[in-house]
Amino acid sequence: MKTATVKLGRTFSMLLCLLLPALAHAETRIEALGAAIFNDTNLSEPAGVACASCHLPFAGNAGNNGSAAGVPKGSRGVLGVRNSMSSAYAATTPSFTFHVFAGRVEPAGGLSWDGRADKLSQQAQSHLFNPAEMNNKDAAGVVAKVASSAYANQFKAEFGANIFSTPDAAFQRILQALTAFEASSAQQPYTSKFDQFIRGKATLSAAEERGLKLFTNPQKANCASCHPVNPTSRNPADSTFTRHGFFALGVPRNTAIPANGNPSYFDLGLCGPVRNKPALTAEVPVNVTIEQFCGSFKTPSLRNVALRPAFMHNGVFRNLTDVVSFYATRNSDPVRWYGSRGVPNDLPMAYQGNIVRDRAPFNRPASAGPALTPAEIGDVVAFLKTLTDGYGR
Ligand code: HEC
Ligand code: HEC
Repeated sequence: MKTATVKLGRTFSMLLCLLLPALAHAETRIEALGAAIFNDTNLSEPAGVACASCHLPFAGNAGNNGSAAGVPKGSRGVLGVRNSMSSAYAATTPSFTFHVFAGRVEPAGGLSWDGRADKLSQQAQSHLFNPAEMNNKDAAGVVAKVASSAYANQFKAEFGANIFSTPDAAFQRILQALTAFEASSAQQPYTSKFDQFIRGKATLSAAEERGLKLFTNPQKANCASCHPVNPTSRNPADSTFTRHGFFALGVPRNTAIPANGNPSYFDLGLCGPVRNKPALTAEVPVNVTIEQFCGSFKTPSLRNVALRPAFMHNGVFRNLTDVVSFYATRNSDPVRWYGSRGVPNDLPMAYQGNIVRDRAPFNRPASAGPALTPAEIGDVVAFLKTLTDGYGR
C-alpha cells in the first residue's frame, strides 16, 4: 500500500513536469516570471513540489498533490492538516478585519482558511518554508534554486544582473513575481458559462437556471447569503461568490487526516492551533470574544469549484452532491454526517453553540425534513458547474 502511494506520487510528479510548461501562460514579463516560479518543481526540499502541485488549473486551482486524504502531500511525503484552496481569484481578498455586517460584528478577509495571511507574498512565503509543504530551510536556499533555474536569465533581465548576489532582495523579488502572476488576468479569467450568461452571451439550461434561483433564494438554499452573486450586473467581478466571511458550519471530521488520529486534536480555524501567528486575541474588538469564532473558517469563492477534488477546510467531501446534500440535510439527518451519535464531531462541545443555525438552509428543526429535495440538490450542483472557466473553448 505504502509503495503504491509512493509510486502514485512519483507518477504524479512526472506527469506534472510534463504538463507544467503548458500551464505557464501570462502576459507581462513579471507575470511570466511569476508563472515560471509558480510551476517550478525544483523549488521544494527535496525537489518535486511546485506551488502548482497543489494549485492546478484543471483541479480548480487547488488539488492535493496526489494525496487522496483530502489534504495535500508535501515534498517529504508528509500530509498536511488542511485541504488546498484555489490560488486563482484570491488576489482580490481584503486584509483580515472585523467588520459590521447585517448589524453584527463579523470577522472577514485574509488568505488561507483562517485568514492569517494578509498578503499573497506572506502566503507564498509560508508555503515555501512549511515543512509539510515545500520545506525550504531559508530564503537563501530558495534563491539559489532560482539562480540555477532555466529562467534565471529572465529573472536577471527583470531585476538586475547582480540581483542574485543579495539573496534577501532576490527573495523579495521572487515573492513579487509570484504575486504579480497570481494577480494577473490569467488567474482571474472570468470565462465561465456563468460569466458569459451575465454578459448576455450564453443561456443557462433549465436545471442551471433553477439551481441559480435556489442558490439566491433566502428561504431555500440561501447560498448567496455567504457566497454572493450579482446576476443583474454584467461585470463578472461583481459576482465574487464570497464575502470572505467566517462561519462554523459543523463540517464533519475527516478521519483520514493524520493529525486527527489524536482525538483531542481539533482544527478550530480562527482559534488555532494553525492560526497562532498572529493569534487572533489581540485584534478582537470590544464586546466580542474570540471563543465565539472557534470552529469558524473562511468562505471560499466557488469559481471553478466543480473541478476541485476535495471540499471544505478539511477536504472531508469528495463531490459536490455530498457538499450540497450536507447543506440540505445537516439538521434533518445528522447521523448521516456525524455517525450514530448524530452530534457535530469536529468541534469540542464547548464551541458547538457557534455552529450556524440562524439562516436557511441551516435554520430548520430536524422534524421539518431536508431543506432541498434530491432534484433541487441536483439543480444547485448543475448551477455550480457553470462556474468553471474556459466555457466554449
Ligand atoms: C503541498 C500543497 C501546497 C503547496 C505546494 C502550495 N500550497 Fe497554497 N495552499 C495549500 C493549502 C493547504 C492552503 C490552505 C492553507 C491554510 O488554510 O492553512 C493553501 C492556500 C493558498 C492560498 C490562499 C487562497 C485563499 O483564498 O485564501 C494561496 C494564494 C496559495 N495557497 C498560493 C500558493 C503559492 C504561491 C504557492 C507556492 C509558493 C503555494 N500556494 C504552494 C496547499 C499548497
Ligand atoms: C452561513 C454561510 C454559508 C452558507 C449559507 C453557505 N455556505 Fe458554502 N461555505 C461557507 C463556508 C464558511 C465554507 C467553508 C467551511 C469549512 O471549510 O469549514 C463553505 C464552503 C463551501 C464549499 C466548498 C468549497 C471548497 O473549495 O472547498 C462549497 C462547494 C459551498 N460552500 C457551496 C455552498 C452552497 C451550494 C450553498 C447553498 C446550499 C452554501 N455553500 C451555503 C459558508 C456558507
